[in-house]
Amino acid sequence: MKFFIDTANIEEIKKATRMGLVDGVTTNPTLVSRENRPFLDVIRDICEVVDGPVSVEAVSMTADELIPEARKLSKIHPNVVVKIPMTLDGMVAVRQLEQEGIKTNVTLVFSPNQALLAMKAGASYISPFVGRLDDAAHEGMDMVADCLEIIENYGFTSEIIVASIRHPLHVLTAARMGAHIATIPYKVMVQLSKHPLTDVGIERFLSDWEKVPKT
Ligand code: E4P
Repeated sequence: MKFFIDTANIEEIKKATRMGLVDGVTTNPTLVSRENRPFLDVIRDICEVVDGPVSVEAVSMTADELIPEARKLSKIHPNVVVKIPMTLDGMVAVRQLEQEGIKTNVTLVFSPNQALLAMKAGASYISPFVGRLDDAAHEGMDMVADCLEIIENYGFTSEIIVASIRHPLHVLTAARMGAHIATIPYKVMVQLSKHPLTDVGIERFLSDWEKVPKT
């Protein structure tokens, strides 16, 4: 299972990279806006640190505007993957861009039928937003299971990025389902390492070690 980190913060990316937890990065306009730095500087810094796909979001709405915007974004660095919104214009753009060899990540996916359209358009990556569906009182992970079943049924080549992850249970469920990728906020990556019995165990071993004669 690949881990992407869901952030535009270079310090978080560096820390997670040192722990071997970064196969790629996903950003969006909200995450980039938190950095208070010029957009191009943020993306270039990320691409310098990470040896893997870096998703950068296009903000145009029509296919005629999305396609040139995506071409421009893809020139920032060879690892840039362009995030395209799940709209019919977005699907026109995905088909054209993938034919040109520009990798796309269809974002803001909230139903398996939307994912099916993105698969048929030839998207390299598809991002179902599980946390936002949970927030709306739907079972977000059910959508992921449906997407994986559709890929299995027909042999589509798109990879599913489980996105909008809020907690470790999302990551565990994604892994058990066999999702290709989870894009995880840094805070949740840290949570994955925690268990109270680990802390208790370390404390006990350290205090018992004090009782061991050293010579
Ligand atoms: C990643 O590609 C998405 O943009 C991100 O996971 C959305 O997360 P949020 O729902 O917590 O904003």
